[in-house]
Amino acid sequence: MAGDASNPIEELKTRALEELGATDSAEALEEWRVSYLGRRGELTQVLRGLSSRSPDERRTIGAAANDAKTALEENLELRERAVKEAEVNSQLAGDAIDVTLPGWPSPSGGLHPTTRTARELCAIFASMGFQVVEGPEVEWEHYNFDSLNIPRHHPARDMWDTLWIDYTDENGDRPMLLRTHTSPMQARVMEKREPPVRVVVPGKCYRYEATDATHEWQLFQIEGLAVDKGITFADLKGTLYEFARQFFGQERRVRFRCDYFPFVEPGAEMAIDCFACAGEGCPICSGTGWIEIMGAGMVHPKVLEGVGYDPSVYTGFAFGIGVERAAMLKHGIEDIRHFYSNDLRFLRQF
Ligand code: PHE
Repeated sequence: MAGDASNPIEELKTRALEELGATDSAEALEEWRVSYLGRRGELTQVLRGLSSRSPDERRTIGAAANDAKTALEENLELRERAVKEAEVNSQLAGDAIDVTLPGWPSPSGGLHPTTRTARELCAIFASMGFQVVEGPEVEWEHYNFDSLNIPRHHPARDMWDTLWIDYTDENGDRPMLLRTHTSPMQARVMEKREPPVRVVVPGKCYRYEATDATHEWQLFQIEGLAVDKGITFADLKGTLYEFARQFFGQERRVRFRCDYFPFVEPGAEMAIDCFACAGEGCPICSGTGWIEIMGAGMVHPKVLEGVGYDPSVYTGFAFGIGVERAAMLKHGIEDIRHFYSNDLRFLRQF
């Protein structure tokens, strides 16, 4: 009886494995699995039918059927792997994919030229002992103007075309604005510390301005401030001269001329000899041989008094560099609007 019953299972197993060997796709494999090992599959039916058999038959047929099941499952797995491999191989051959070709390069970003320039400028001043600090872009009128010796209604405010924030305080004033320069950080830094102070402040500034080749309504500046006992104009000149040589080149010559800013006295404007014509005079320097790069001067006694420093004890100098301006001069960029037009042809050059 037992022998009779095991033969059909042996026959089933042989037939199943033969058919499995002929499968050549994932679909064929699935069909095969369903017809033998699926819930209504042949082998499953045999195992189900065991309950109606005698205990003896159950043991022998059951054992044979279980062996067959394991064999079918193992072979299915092997066949699946082989079929998959064959599929990949034929695809490679058919599509002629050359797996040794280099992949597509993924695009990588870079730092914006103003960011690079600002970092370069800060690094130069850091090497001279200046600490880098930052401040708010939305500023109080007090810091942007009053603390810098520019009281309300003073015509000097017209030097900065200002974007006021639509916020009215309890007195009916609108005291908040987008900072027009980084100079408000002078008072903010001095209020918080005692001299000696030596800081540079990189940051974004905003002006209500019509744009053209040399003016933008947003710009980066780097403010510099040094306050201590006995600081003189010679320190200002020496520091800025060294900066110009490091940033623009060892051969650079510099020129200081009087200029007016309400928060410095005396005030100066610094120029470097034109890199394009070496001082001969050309269209880039409007024929003068010089290019202005920053405002500077000795910190006004009223600014020092305003933060509680005694101007008879302490003196200092301050300067403000336009970062885009510096980048334009260094790289020969002819229009400041390139910086904010997001044209990759421009940006990728840096
Ligand atoms: N804050 C001035 C400007 O934006 C530049 C400046 C800074 C001048 C420090 C003198 C001293 O025009």
